[in-house]
Amino acid sequence: MSAPSRYHEVYARASRDPEGFWAEAARDIDWVEFPRTIFDPTQGPYGRWFADGVLNTCYNALDRQVAAGRGDQDALIHDSPLAGSVTRLTYREMLREVAALAAVMQDFGVAKGDRVLIYMPMVPEAMIAMLACARIGAVHSVVFGGFAAKELATRIDDAHPRLIMSASCGLEPGRIVHYKPLLDEAIRLAAHQVPTTIVLQRPQEPCTLVAGRDHDWAELRAAALDAGKAAPCVPLRATDPLYILYTSGTTGIPKGVVRDNGGHAVALKWSMFNLYGVKPGEVWWCGSDIGWVVGHSYIIYAPLLHGATSIMYEGKPVGTPDAGAYWRVIAEHKAVALFTAPTAFRALRKEDPAGELIRKYDLSRFRTLFLAGERADPPTVEWAERQLKVPVIDHWWQTETGWCIAGNPVGLGVLPVKHGSPTVPMPGYQVDVVDEAAKPVAANKMGSIVIKLPMPPGCLPTLWQQDDRFRESYLTEFPGYYKTSDAGYKDDDGYVFVMGRTDDIINVAGHRLSTGGMEEVLASHPDVAECAVLGIKDPLKGEVPCGFVVLKAGVTRAPAEIEKEIVALVRDRIGPVAAFKIAITVNRLPKTRSGKILRGTMKKIADGDSWSMPATIDDPEALAEIGSALQRKGLTS
Ligand code: COA
Ligand code: AMP
Repeated sequence: MSAPSRYHEVYARASRDPEGFWAEAARDIDWVEFPRTIFDPTQGPYGRWFADGVLNTCYNALDRQVAAGRGDQDALIHDSPLAGSVTRLTYREMLREVAALAAVMQDFGVAKGDRVLIYMPMVPEAMIAMLACARIGAVHSVVFGGFAAKELATRIDDAHPRLIMSASCGLEPGRIVHYKPLLDEAIRLAAHQVPTTIVLQRPQEPCTLVAGRDHDWAELRAAALDAGKAAPCVPLRATDPLYILYTSGTTGIPKGVVRDNGGHAVALKWSMFNLYGVKPGEVWWCGSDIGWVVGHSYIIYAPLLHGATSIMYEGKPVGTPDAGAYWRVIAEHKAVALFTAPTAFRALRKEDPAGELIRKYDLSRFRTLFLAGERADPPTVEWAERQLKVPVIDHWWQTETGWCIAGNPVGLGVLPVKHGSPTVPMPGYQVDVVDEAAKPVAANKMGSIVIKLPMPPGCLPTLWQQDDRFRESYLTEFPGYYKTSDAGYKDDDGYVFVMGRTDDIINVAGHRLSTGGMEEVLASHPDVAECAVLGIKDPLKGEVPCGFVVLKAGVTRAPAEIEKEIVALVRDRIGPVAAFKIAITVNRLPKTRSGKILRGTMKKIADGDSWSMPATIDDPEALAEIGSALQRKGLTS
């Protein structure tokens, strides 16, 4: 019999005395000046944690671990089936690399508060670059490699970086991602002029460097190490920004989520044992990408703040080379836990339904599987439980929160799992389900999921230089709460069920995308009069975007040709990550009498769900046309 979970007691303590709870958690971090004010409600749009504390995140991730005797332990194991390599860096080696690169950045004039944009594949140097920024107080902004030049340019124009760190190429199965031409194009498109880039030449596809602007990473590194350069840690206020991470909003302009130094370090450190059950010295694997929040928090920062070894994986769950790759990595590197997205498990299940490849590997050390990024569908969770015979923990969070909102705390003692629910709110989060008047609804009743202010340490304090947009996007609709834009319910035991978004964000293979952003691209095609993009069900990716277009009067070109151009346009403007492959021409879009496009009903038709004719519909025939168009494309039967 395992001991009863301490969850309820710990959650109650954090609710009763949040400042006492987080002050105690803050003792697990080394501070230059321990905060006297644990929470200051007068700062920022809803208050700031550890307002007068001073620390350095990189110091806590590296120097402190070396000083505590972890110098010879691996900080990072980089495993790349795509490059055919495994690279290890001990904490001591990582510290040396980070301090040298931080000195290089300083030589280019990068100082505390300056932004550094990182557009890189999953290579050790990306981690080194992020930590080097943290060391000198520069604010990194990592852009996911699957985004196109225009998206990169938008981020350059918002963050105004002083420096860009990039690489010559990325590796995807069967294709090389040409980073450098994308970077050059983004710099050309951006209004903000970036004076310096540092480019890592990868042997798979070296690139040409622009004289005067681009610098060779390896040369700078070698020169800095030869000269014995090592930047010391810069003391930072807990409230100084550590990074900006752009995420999809309801328009094409992404939101710059700001993460602070103090709250982030405290919350992530707390989570590694209490939530994930991982002890310092153990090997942990988060299979996300550094371009996403999950990668920031659980490939880079949390494992190192905790003194664990982090695996960074440049590959896919299937096809690199087969559906046994995950099990090979776990067995070979002795990982105790894996954190990935349900979509990866749907891919594994499809390729290896009987789990034969799983049994080829020694997974005796593997204790827990964590899933997040999208709703974990019960059949996938059940399959993983049956095959792996370890707890499978769904947990819910957002780029904005930086760590888990609702989960099942392994370190405090696992609570009974209910399939379809990410379990219960973590300490510091008061999660309510409310109606339109911000009144909590009864148990088992659907509503908007909101978090009572203040949110716990680690959550975004604001959007980059946009306090007003932050208030308007998150704090205005439900006064006193942060709006998650997720809908769902809580059951009689307080378990949270997250059922879907209330805005136009869709979740494609665990990647968060804005259909509004895609509609802007479709509408820019010269032959398109009107459009609507919806997320429709997909057995592998959960959802995929599907675009309906109405062509301008007088357009005589074949619709199939225009549809192809539209697909290419989204790939070109947003990037392959949008996974936009379905464009359908229709004569008109179904609308209400007041002109609102009936996206909800269109989605139900596409998903094969039951639907009823909206009373406000302008022309019922328009919905029948959507059904026929989907049938013609073979998307519905
Ligand atoms: N750089 C460049 N292109 C990238 C990229 C990157 N870092 N990541 C993905 N892409 C490309 C893919 O190559 C693909 O291109 P294609 O249209 O030419 O095939 C496209 O973007 C769509 O990618 P994705 O939706 O991820 O599909 P996939 O077929 O490559 O892989 C899965 C499917 C399920 C294996 C994959 O999505 C996966 O492992 N997902 C895990 C998600 C995850 O970790 N999410 C983070 C939140 S926890
Ligand atoms: P991102 O900001 O990319 O992490 O995406 C956050 C969104 O993904 C959330 O608002 C949810 O809609 C969805 N999401 C993440 N994790 C889960 C989960 N465990 N269950 C249901 N939805 C999730």
